[in-house]
Amino acid sequence: MAMHRQQVTLADGAVIEIRPLERGDRQGLAAGAERLSARSRYLRFASPKDHLTERDLDWLTDLEHHSREALLAIDPTTRDGVAVARYVELSEEPGIVDTAVTVDDAWQNRGLGSYLLAQLIARARQEGHHAMRATVLAENAASLAMVRHAGFQPRARDGALLEFELPLGAALPERPGLP
Ligand SMILES: CC(C)(COP(=O)(O)OP(=O)(O)OC[C@H]1O[C@@H](n2cnc3c(N)ncnc32)[C@H](O)[C@@H]1OP(=O)(O)O)[C@@H](O)C(=O)NCCC(=O)NCCS
Repeated sequence: MAMHRQQVTLADGAVIEIRPLERGDRQGLAAGAERLSARSRYLRFASPKDHLTERDLDWLTDLEHHSREALLAIDPTTRDGVAVARYVELSEEPGIVDTAVTVDDAWQNRGLGSYLLAQLIARARQEGHHAMRATVLAENAASLAMVRHAGFQPRARDGALLEFELPLGAALPERPGLP
């Protein structure tokens, strides 16, 4: 069941619309990525990425809302997309989804990332996934605070990258062939 469009008011009174991301948001997504500061882009992609390629945009908008879901936050005054939270099911680990959240610089530290992540966790639960992972650069204080407060626990560390996991409460699918 897809998420319905909703309107939320942030703690500072700003109103935001939230709905599932669709294929038609491709240009908006590219424009949003262009607006991001180099620092935010680096923190999101854990590498100095200067723009999204056509291939990136294909991948980021190819969503069937079960194993690949994304929620988009829109500023109703400008119609700009200002944040995206997404998950992708890991092909090698069915039932485990990997998440990433990006908030436009002007909208950061206003509660939007945390709100979108909570909505995305609810969507992953609805879809029956059993755990969500997040990989965060150790220097990314905002992302660390966001995932910790959402209940994620540390799982692994690979140099500067920390991996967190949140159990979603759904049972693991039964392994075929077992009695
Ligand atoms: C990380 C990110 C998604 C968080 O979203 P956000 O809307 O800015 O964060 P929120 O306002 O919901 O705040 C989340 C927590 O981080 C803290 N925080 C926010 N900005 C912070 C900053 N610059 N430094 C330290 N802590 C910060 C908040 O106080 C809050 O902690 P709390 O729960 O104790 O109050 C957002 O900052 C972002 O898009 N950054 C660039 C891209 C990125 O890093 N993506 C994450 C990749 S996994």
